[in-house]
Amino acid sequence: MADGAGTGTVRGTVRGTVRVHALIVRVTHWVNAFALTCMVMSGWQIYNATPLFGFRFPAWATLGGWLGGAIAWHLAALWLLVVNGLVYVGYGLLSRHFRRSFLPISAGRVFADTRDALRFRLAHKAGSYNAVQRLFYVGVLFLLVLAVLSGFALWKPVQLHALAALFGGYEVARRVHFVAMAGIVGFVVVHLALVVVVPRTLVSMITGRARIVLEPSK
Ligand code: HEM
Repeated sequence: MADGAGTGTVRGTVRGTVRVHALIVRVTHWVNAFALTCMVMSGWQIYNATPLFGFRFPAWATLGGWLGGAIAWHLAALWLLVVNGLVYVGYGLLSRHFRRSFLPISAGRVFADTRDALRFRLAHKAGSYNAVQRLFYVGVLFLLVLAVLSGFALWKPVQLHALAALFGGYEVARRVHFVAMAGIVGFVVVHLALVVVVPRTLVSMITGRARIVLEPSK
């Protein structure tokens, strides 16, 4: 992700900033965060109308007020999520951002980085994601696609019957949709915890730049 630096030298130590997030990645990331929050909260309101399991989501965590209002929010946020997602994925593939930032992901590196993270020894290098982050980001993109596709199967089960059949029918698609949502929410909880642990990454995700300090080699 890092490309392009503005640097200055202070008694042999190089200080400056590097660009770590392209503008398009930052804009689509924050639009995605907004759209997804609306989708999850309105989805919980829709769920509460006919709960699949033996619980309901608390009213304060829902959006839309009632079933009809929640469906309106859910569909409006869906198109924002889809159009924004297509821009992000299109950019990620064409600019090779995905290849450069998310690949390769090896089982060995994921294992080593997880072990280091659990011992609080995993350093955050500005401009590159560790193997755990790469796996999480690719994983959540997969879950988002799964949530959208299973959602379309639930929304138009007659017109999109081939898609619904691919999921094993309406009832299975409903469960797949719920599991994808739970995975995405789980990702967000861990993602936010990591932002709290390394808050400077939040500044970079807003400004696009990260500070670097290079000590002279002795
Ligand atoms: C709501 C759903 C969210 C999803 C699905 C999501 C997903 C992602 C993804 C895929 C990336 C990698 C972007 C890339 O390089 O292409 C990323 C980076 C990042 N996200 Fe999120 N995000 C979400 C919400 C948030 C929120 C609410 C915050 C902070 C309050 C946040 C803070 C960050 C930061 C700081 C990075 C950069 C991490 C780093 O440089 O190490 N994200 N996020």
